Amino acid sequence: MTAEIIYGKQLASDLREEMKLEVDALKKAEITPKLTVVLIGDDPASHSYVRGKEKASAEVGVESNVLRMKEETTETQLLEVIDELNNDVSVNGILVQLPLPGHINEQVIIEAISPEKDVDGFHPINIGRMVAGKDTFYPCTPYGIITMLKSKNVKIEGKQAVIVGRSNIVGKPVGQLLLNENATVTYCHSRTEDMRKHTLEADILIVAVGKQHFLTADDIKPGAVVIDVGVNRMENGKLTGDVEFDTAKEKADLITPVPGGVGPMTITMLLHNTIKAAKKHNGYLGK
Ligand code: GUN
Repeated sequence: MTAEIIYGKQLASDLREEMKLEVDALKKAEITPKLTVVLIGDDPASHSYVRGKEKASAEVGVESNVLRMKEETTETQLLEVIDELNNDVSVNGILVQLPLPGHINEQVIIEAISPEKDVDGFHPINIGRMVAGKDTFYPCTPYGIITMLKSKNVKIEGKQAVIVGRSNIVGKPVGQLLLNENATVTYCHSRTEDMRKHTLEADILIVAVGKQHFLTADDIKPGAVVIDVGVNRMENGKLTGDVEFDTAKEKADLITPVPGGVGPMTITMLLHNTIKAAKKHNGYLGK
């Protein structure tokens, strides 16, 4: 049987309509959620992602401001900018687009952003709160994945979830959020022996390695839910995922496409976190 396709793009658009109403209501109370994005250097993919964030912010009425800084920006200069943004009461969310140029220590930058404005959910305080099962800013791609699964009423509790890839941005936190939802979680990575043994056990399979068609139908348990986080550019210029979609969709029950799957959800959850930050900063939510 051919899998049902989870169109993150549609869900993202539905959620953004709801968010627009929420932002309209906040504006009536003279609160305009504001996101500042810091973009260093000339990486075309990063510039494209940031344009997407600007466009989506405008769509829901979130004010966005992009600070485009040159590749040679020093760590000290960037820390000064972050300090200003931390102290600027008009800014609710701060996002420093990754990856950063090699001469800047990413972890130092992540830890410099106020946890109260860390709409990426990368600060150790927010990661710690997530691990403790507390409400906080959750990393956007993992949070988007959980939101997609819930929108399709996928049962997570008690299920075997297998994560392929252990990045700080996607693999590690999505496993944690699935654990918080009572899944049994296995992480696979570049040193895993006999990866297929694990992926064939997965009721929920999340793939985030950044390698074109890294998994095929032969790696998938019949009836699995497959979430493909990969975004890889093929030689013909088109985007494709980490999973060979055409074969995998004949084996899975539910599967995300690339493009139009997880990607649009990431930006949507960033907007969600920014609105949440604005509400918190204005006393609308508990501390
Ligand atoms: N680069 C790729 N994904 C992300 C993300 O979610 N946040 C930031 N800040 N940079 C990224």
